[in-house]
Amino acid sequence: MQKTKFLRMFAPNFILEMKVVKTLAEFDSVRKTLGDKTIGFVPTMGALHEGHASLIRRAVSECGAVVVSDFVNPTQFNNKNDFNTYPRVLEEDSAFVKALGAAVLFAPSVEEMYPAGTDYDKKVFDLGGLDKYGEGPRRPGHFNGMAQVVTRLFDIVRPDMAYFGEKDYQQLAIIEYFVKKLGYGIKIVRCPIARGADGLALSSRNKLLTPAQREAAPNIYRSISKAVDMVGKMSVKEAVKAVTELIDSDSRLRTEYVEIVDASTLRPVADWNEAGHLRLTCAVYAGQVRLIDNIALK
Ligand code: PAF
Repeated sequence: MQKTKFLRMFAPNFILEMKVVKTLAEFDSVRKTLGDKTIGFVPTMGALHEGHASLIRRAVSECGAVVVSDFVNPTQFNNKNDFNTYPRVLEEDSAFVKALGAAVLFAPSVEEMYPAGTDYDKKVFDLGGLDKYGEGPRRPGHFNGMAQVVTRLFDIVRPDMAYFGEKDYQQLAIIEYFVKKLGYGIKIVRCPIARGADGLALSSRNKLLTPAQREAAPNIYRSISKAVDMVGKMSVKEAVKAVTELIDSDSRLRTEYVEIVDASTLRPVADWNEAGHLRLTCAVYAGQVRLIDNIALK
């Protein structure tokens, strides 16, 4: 059967002619052509991998047309070197997104997103205190910058549904909070963490790992998975220590933090019964590359 005919029958939302759009004006005219289709949105910073693919595939299967954004947002980087070294591969990304059936790849410049004389990069958001723990104090300004770009993108794209991975668990909780608080009528779809066969959470930063660091990195997931069996068998403090030691026993890895938190408030707990749902969250360095991961404990 012809590819087009096959896609029309079995994947009616798959769009063959993807548009790559770089300006807001262009985006506006393309957005009009999407009519009253349900718009799914997958915001990304590019350097796309199978984790993004799982979000895009889901969006394509659930929405009439899918917009993917590809923008390395300067306002969410608290470390200039991290921003400068963040992988940028727009051509590869474009082919990747097209093959998944998205309708539009929106790849604006910094000037388009934050034009001189506007205050989009100065807005301060109420994040409901969800930024007080975990990544928040370790990456000052990160979540506010993330809220700046996500709200800006939501206002431009005007999606019905937006897809985010649970790898950035705290980011997802914060987005759910401000979407509700600011009255955006957008359904936020939580998607499970995509992992490699060896358990490593897929991340654009994995591209920066040396072969030795890449070999070590799956020990993060191996170690945090062990925490599931520690629940109720030792104190929370002992579990945090045990997981930290497991990760650090690989000399190529260095734990920045391991926290066991209330899955809704993200506040670290001292006791297993402090919350109905608990999540272990962590950040670990492999050389200069900072990797984050998390797992549901109960
Ligand atoms: O998760 C990311 O890649 C980014 O934080 C996001 C949501 C695309 C905003 O820049």
